[in-house]
Amino acid sequence: MKVTEAKFVQDFIDLADEGYRMGWHERNGGNLSYRMKDHEVESVRSRFRFYGEWHPIGTSVPGLAGEFFLVTGTGQYFRNIRKDPESAIGIIEIDETGENYKIRWGFIENGFPTSELPTHLMNHEVKKRVSGGKHRIIYHAHTTNVIALSFVLPLKDEIFTRELWEMATECPVVFPEGVGVVDWMVPGGRAIGVETSKLMEQYNAVIWAMHGIFCSGETFDLTFGLMHTIEKAAEILVKVMSMSHHKTQTITPQNFRDLAEGFHITLDERFLFEKPDKSIPGTKE
Ligand code: 13P
Ligand code: ZN
Repeated sequence: MKVTEAKFVQDFIDLADEGYRMGWHERNGGNLSYRMKDHEVESVRSRFRFYGEWHPIGTSVPGLAGEFFLVTGTGQYFRNIRKDPESAIGIIEIDETGENYKIRWGFIENGFPTSELPTHLMNHEVKKRVSGGKHRIIYHAHTTNVIALSFVLPLKDEIFTRELWEMATECPVVFPEGVGVVDWMVPGGRAIGVETSKLMEQYNAVIWAMHGIFCSGETFDLTFGLMHTIEKAAEILVKVMSMSHHKTQTITPQNFRDLAEGFHITLDERFLFEKPDKSIPGTKE
């Protein structure tokens, strides 16, 4: 089978297109990776290149030894992925030490995987372990409203989670575990990957202050849906904040407890703290 005809490749490209249309991928902003299933590797193996060198990943992910990933290329524009997938995306194999990768398909024209490969792979390693192998997708997007909030809200998991939850009743149902927040750091290396993957132990979404978000999920739909839900909640909060520094009414901690019961979800009490007043954190003069 041609690699570009495989369903997982089509789904990957669809997500990239959709994310571009949402306005989350200016220029080469954002990146995407998918941990392939064994039968998917076999279905396209005849198209693999068997030459090429091993390249250092820049970190160590022994939990991913021998795995294959479809990933976006560094410097590649999401808007071009459908037009020219063989340049913009590629399949890499991880060696048995978990420290090197080899390009097996794609990245023609001397391309390489995303500069955020260390973060993607460290997140995959954590998620593969904690989800019992179910999570396969890591998606990084430059979501406008989440980025805007990171200039104003205090950079705390509890505050971002609570404020986003309050913006739409279904938010705690979509991300009951909350969201993590990483303070500003230099992107593109191991250090930010270490901080992000620590938070991925408990969250499926981690915000990078003044930069964007990383989401993890089992399927392309669930991962995109998580990104979309968080960014929409952030957009509502930005609109609320543009009208007022405080909420006249909101969803209360007891409302959340009732919701948890009705939807059979667990919401950590850490996010259901009492607030001193109705002002939005970070907005008081
Ligand atoms: P890449 O082009 O290397 O994927 O980088 C884009 C990006 O969003 C960095 O955080
Ligand atoms: Zn980025």
